[in-house]
Amino acid sequence: MAEASSASATAPVLEMTKVSCRYGPVQVLDNVSLTVSTGEIVTLIGANGAGKSTLLMSVFGIPRVASGSIQFAGTDITHLPTHHIPRLGLAVVPEGRRIFPGMTVLENMELGTMALRKRTSVAFEGLFELFPILWERRQQKAGTLSGGEQQMLAIARALAGQPKLLLLDEPSLGLAPLMVKKIFSLIQSIVQSGTTVFLVEQNANQALQLADRGYVLGSGRIRLEGKGQELLANPEVRQAYLGKLA
Ligand SMILES: Nc1ncnc2c1ncn2[C@@H]1O[C@H](COP(=O)(O)OP(=O)(O)OP(=O)(O)O)[C@@H](O)[C@H]1O
Ligand SMILES: [Mg+2]
Repeated sequence: MAEASSASATAPVLEMTKVSCRYGPVQVLDNVSLTVSTGEIVTLIGANGAGKSTLLMSVFGIPRVASGSIQFAGTDITHLPTHHIPRLGLAVVPEGRRIFPGMTVLENMELGTMALRKRTSVAFEGLFELFPILWERRQQKAGTLSGGEQQMLAIARALAGQPKLLLLDEPSLGLAPLMVKKIFSLIQSIVQSGTTVFLVEQNANQALQLADRGYVLGSGRIRLEGKGQELLANPEVRQAYLGKLA
């Protein structure tokens, strides 16, 4: 895990400044500012409906921000067309994984390389080292994988585009504790191999243990921010998100 001091010394790879988003008359994000620096794991936690997925997907212009700006690796991406964004080195594993069940594991992973200008098989070798189970299952239809394996496939597919920054929306959702542990340990390996991670999670306890820094989103606003360990010890976080008495 990156030391907070070294992380703060590097330039932000993602910087959201005073971002507001609305669905029709409903304001879902209200003046949200956050940064993710190279080499960090940053987590965003918050209750159902807080606006976590909206915040994550607004980076890709879905929805478009109503006001504010989003910078990625020094480029203003606020108004870029959605399909341009992966090419810059940003990948997302959306809520619900969205793998193609009728295609094989390998075919799903090949789709992930579409973000690359030049196709390469080198990325796959590294990926199969990280996800040996996907190598074993490479010719199997993705729909026949277990939930945890499908989540791994969704992550591997995103990594096949060799992103600088990987955005993950609730990768532990619906998985058994052992698989959650595995996914979180994979996230750590992903960061160690050079991809920065922004992790949206409801599993606040494990996300904050893993993360260098975290943000708490409540009703579309950043309520708290700090180092993972600081937020874990924060009485408000303990009571509201960890189900513990302050
Ligand atoms: N496409 C949409 N149209 C209208 N309202 C939407 C749309 N998507 C989300 N919302 C609303 O925006 C709010 C925030 O939703 P969002 O999915 O971002 O929350 P979340 O924090 O990711 O929740 P969860 O933990 O349940 O995934 C909710 O009130 C939701 O009903
Ligand atoms: Mg969500």
